Amino acid sequence: MLFFVRNCGFFMRELSVKIGGNGKNMRRKKILYGGDYNPEQWLKEPEILEKDIAYMKEARINTVSMGMFSWAMLEPEEGQYRMGWLEERIEQLYRNGIFTILSTPSGARPRWLAQAYPEVLRVREDRVRQIFGERHNHCYTSPMYREKVGRMNRELAKRFGKHPAVVMWHVSNEYGGECHCPLCQEAFREWLERKYGTVEALNDAWCTTFWSRRYSSFAQAESPSSIGEWELHGLTLDWKRFVTAQTADFARHEIAALKEEGITQPTTVNLMYDYQQLNYDELAKCVDVVSWDSYPVWHEGEDIVPALDQAMQHDYMRCLKHKPYLLMESCPSSLNWQRVSKLKRPGLLTASGLQAIAHGSDSVMYFQIRQSRGASEKFHGAVIDHYGGTDTRVFQEVKAIGEVLETLEEIKGAAVKADVAVIYDVENRWAMEDAQGPRNDGLFYHEAAMKSYTAFKRLGLNVDVISQAQEIEGYRMVAAPMLYLFRDGMEEKIRHFVAGGGCFVLTYWSGVVDETDRCFLGKTPHGLTDVFGLRRAEIDGLYDGEVNGLVLAKDAAKILGKDDLAEENGRDDLVREKGKGDLAEEKGTAFADRDFRVKGYECRNLCELLEVEDAQVLFTYASAFYQGSPAVTVKAFGKGKACYVAADAKQRFYDDFYAWLAGQEEVCPILEGEIPAEVEVSSRTAGEWEYVFVQNFSDREVDIRGLNFGDDIEILYGRGDLERLQAYGSVIMKRKMEGEIS
Ligand code: GAL
Ligand code: ZN
Repeated sequence: MLFFVRNCGFFMRELSVKIGGNGKNMRRKKILYGGDYNPEQWLKEPEILEKDIAYMKEARINTVSMGMFSWAMLEPEEGQYRMGWLEERIEQLYRNGIFTILSTPSGARPRWLAQAYPEVLRVREDRVRQIFGERHNHCYTSPMYREKVGRMNRELAKRFGKHPAVVMWHVSNEYGGECHCPLCQEAFREWLERKYGTVEALNDAWCTTFWSRRYSSFAQAESPSSIGEWELHGLTLDWKRFVTAQTADFARHEIAALKEEGITQPTTVNLMYDYQQLNYDELAKCVDVVSWDSYPVWHEGEDIVPALDQAMQHDYMRCLKHKPYLLMESCPSSLNWQRVSKLKRPGLLTASGLQAIAHGSDSVMYFQIRQSRGASEKFHGAVIDHYGGTDTRVFQEVKAIGEVLETLEEIKGAAVKADVAVIYDVENRWAMEDAQGPRNDGLFYHEAAMKSYTAFKRLGLNVDVISQAQEIEGYRMVAAPMLYLFRDGMEEKIRHFVAGGGCFVLTYWSGVVDETDRCFLGKTPHGLTDVFGLRRAEIDGLYDGEVNGLVLAKDAAKILGKDDLAEENGRDDLVREKGKGDLAEEKGTAFADRDFRVKGYECRNLCELLEVEDAQVLFTYASAFYQGSPAVTVKAFGKGKACYVAADAKQRFYDDFYAWLAGQEEVCPILEGEIPAEVEVSSRTAGEWEYVFVQNFSDREVDIRGLNFGDDIEILYGRGDLERLQAYGSVIMKRKMEGEIS
């Protein structure tokens, strides 16, 4: 078997060498373990700071991230820098074997700055300037904000840019939001002019003749606003792109200031879960390492559901650079900003930390090491809580994880190899969700991506989650749910992929508009109707609770290897018992038609009507006036396969359909055998070794005898029972890779 090696852990290996270069060889390969630490809140209590260090050592914490909210302590008055306390902390920690990821403090400006220079404060979309307060309340365009941040960063870099204790720069904190101030408006106009060159080109791209919105000069351009223009889709889309560009430009400005002082350490920005206001592709380009903050909602149903949702985010973050990344924040116990602050069941913290490692993270980090005493996060979970001792349930689990991570050092830097990918694209989402139709009550893009992702995971595969800007060549299967917006050339990319032998699954509501959200004229999905052998004719939006279904088309049973069903069109064989299929379904939807349930797969929300030319119809609609018309098709094109799914089918459909496709494409699972519904299997590879993670995300013991581990395995973690996984239990094993590495 040939393995495709796509991802490499180069960067983290460099980091290892760097740490090693400081004479700390035994620490060379450590997985980073620790979290956000805010000693500035405790400077008046030195005994607490002392204790913190002792506790961190006890918990095997080897890295903290500091400084993200320290501006007021680092520059209490304009131009008066006070960095001694930070240096003392950094060095004290270092003497105790704890490294620092040092943050620039631009995520929250000090009060004096906003008072002296009101231009640094944000203006809302309704054109109201905010007053001082909160965190993300500053303008990324403001020359004054840039100057002050640049100066601060240079001061920090002068002092710590070559410091052996500082292993990385954490630039700002969770960049996000947008500003509509006059400075931003001006920058937007310049950005538009650079992009379009002439006003005529802008008018064409945005279809401004509609409702008399033509521009006669760039000076007339304004950001979208609820008190003005918010329905000109070309504008709303470009504004979001501009916000990303401006944020990335700000990040580059911050990093340039650090580099001016010759920092020797790599940089990162911490990204957020499924964050929709920025295109992270662009932010990732600014830094050396991607990191992110993970805060799932657990225990609100089957935990495999949030576990797979997190898994998809981990894979998305890894794929931003196709390199190991860092889990920068996660909560050691209960959160305080979710609807309900739920305690993590014993073992879950370990499972979710190990899941990060399984997906390519080289760290497990928490927010926060010590719980703050006051203000908005005083009840946010922490390694050390207000009680202040180590004899707590949470501390003990944190410590146990620290001990486990020390035994997994060889995994650091290992790659994740995936033969399949899901395209999950934020620009596409922006355009689609602003589109007005075909279902303003919800298009469920995230859910659609999750269905493909979940189906792949249930087959026991590693999955890459990529934007459409990324390369797809080299994968065996690629799923592109709802790829409404095609960037220039996307259709050629897909055509080439399929012609060359790939299997591509495209769904309803794809290839509808171009890069500026103008509808493609002629047949759609744009540029691909010959590849898929069909064209979209119409799309039907379904009311909440309304259902249709997919039933096997005539002759399709043979193709799908269901010969026994040939006479009985779409019978219950294709529908599994309730259980596995239902775990990942959206909450609160009832089956409207029980009888229908056993005859096919339910679909909801959107049903597209197709005109099929030369594709093989696999499923047809079960009801409505388009009953019997094609709903799922496949066509051999070139050396590959082009599949089209025209309706928002339930998870069970994707599970079965992808299982069939994966069989056809000979995509190999990480482990042979049946994966229980509660279990996730993933792997990383380094050299000739593969590290396989089998994780139970449920509060029940799970029988894993159906999985074939092979003979030649070494158990690194979870020694003992390979037949049963305890509640939230994991097994991590090591085996030699078969086949060749290319
Ligand atoms: C993150 C943020 C942290 C902390 C945490 C609480 O989004 O970066 O500073 O506020 O949330 O969950
Ligand atoms: Zn602004």
